[in-house]
Amino acid sequence: MSEEQVQEFKLKENCELRFAAGEDSDVCLELVNGYAEIFGTQLILNKKYIFPAKSRVAVFTFTSATVELVGATESAYVAETTPMIIYLNIHAAMEEVRKKREEQAFNTSNKPKGPRLLLVGPTDVGKSTVSRILCNYSVRQGRSPIFVELDVGQNNISVPGTVAAVLVQKTADVVDSFERNSPLVYNFGHTSPSKNLSLYEALFKQLASTINSQIQENDEAKIGGMIINTCGWVDGEGYKCIVKAASAFEVDVVIVLDHERLYSDLSKELPEFVRLTHVPKSGGVEQRTTQIRAKMRGENVHRYFYGTRSNNLYPFTFDVPFDDVTLCKVGAEQLPDSCLPFGMEVENHETKVVVMEPSVDIKHHLFAFSRSQKPDETVLKEAVHGFCLVTEVDMEKRTMTLLCPQNTIPSKTLVYSEVTHLDDQIKR
Ligand SMILES: Nc1ncnc2c1ncn2[C@@H]1O[C@H](COP(=O)(O)OP(=O)(O)O)[C@@H](O)[C@H]1O
Ligand SMILES: [Mg+2]
Repeated sequence: MSEEQVQEFKLKENCELRFAAGEDSDVCLELVNGYAEIFGTQLILNKKYIFPAKSRVAVFTFTSATVELVGATESAYVAETTPMIIYLNIHAAMEEVRKKREEQAFNTSNKPKGPRLLLVGPTDVGKSTVSRILCNYSVRQGRSPIFVELDVGQNNISVPGTVAAVLVQKTADVVDSFERNSPLVYNFGHTSPSKNLSLYEALFKQLASTINSQIQENDEAKIGGMIINTCGWVDGEGYKCIVKAASAFEVDVVIVLDHERLYSDLSKELPEFVRLTHVPKSGGVEQRTTQIRAKMRGENVHRYFYGTRSNNLYPFTFDVPFDDVTLCKVGAEQLPDSCLPFGMEVENHETKVVVMEPSVDIKHHLFAFSRSQKPDETVLKEAVHGFCLVTEVDMEKRTMTLLCPQNTIPSKTLVYSEVTHLDDQIKR
């Protein structure tokens, strides 16, 4: 066996070790002394955590810690300035709001509602990381917040092209992040909101209203509040979208990460009761290229079907006759006004549900299993059961081969997603 590279780091109070695992080598991390956390999850002393190649990680300590890394790293250094105290203060302010509302609701029949926080900013400023840290701090405080994911590109709950929410009851796994148990997921079908803004808005409004009705039956979730992550589109229509999301989710707090102009614009636009805070990004956040983003989306789809290294999933592959299912998609070609019969109003073509004929073009595409029975407007209202991937289409036999988390299809209404993925796993 080749000799492994071992590095030891002594961290002082409020410092963090930032490292990137090598191009093709895992890195094993161990806390050998003191207290430390990774993105808000506390490390267990002497436990070995294996990070896959290319992982980017920060190990932070509020007190002091000694950390050991085994394996080749692309970079590894200790940073003395981090915004972690600011993030901790945001958490503390959220907890204060919960306590205040609990007091106000005491002796009344009203169940208190927790704070709702929206994280905004351009791409690569650490929005996803900050949402993970805040969710973890809430859990460590004994709360169960709802994590809402509005980023249809880099989604932390489900496959790319979705908006989703999950109740967080456990801190994130140090390596695999949060469990993705029974999330509430809506299929958008594109990796950028700009591809169909009307649909994007309709879906996040629907998500907000479903969460609102579900928390009426769950007091813990209601007081836990929400941490809402967004995508990095902050200009023009993207900006308007942020404002609409703030209103749809009735947020109390908006955190702007690293974008002065966005902060300034929002301060003029948001209602007065919304607390707006501007916070710096961490110096450790990585800039990602379009190619890296695309690759991460692929890894996300792979994770959906196959799980992670320490938590394997075993998907099924089977054929489904075309006649057993109805394929549909949301968004039709717009008809010019002149094509419409006199007196007929133009309907919003962007949110129109249209039936799709099976063809070889659907190969490698994701499809959502809709809870809807028919390919009609209820498709927009219903969360999805889950997703399958079309791996083969046989036009002669009129069947398609699906990669699916379970061995039968949970619904006959399959909704198209523009998201494609090449399933290169060896079949069982
Ligand atoms: N303090 C940090 N040190 C090292 N890497 C970090 C730190 N914070 C975030 N990262 C890494 O930077 C990358 C981008 O962060 P992310 O939160 O996904 O940004 P955004 O959601 O704004 O696009 C991720 O790979 C994340 O693990
Ligand atoms: Mg993100």
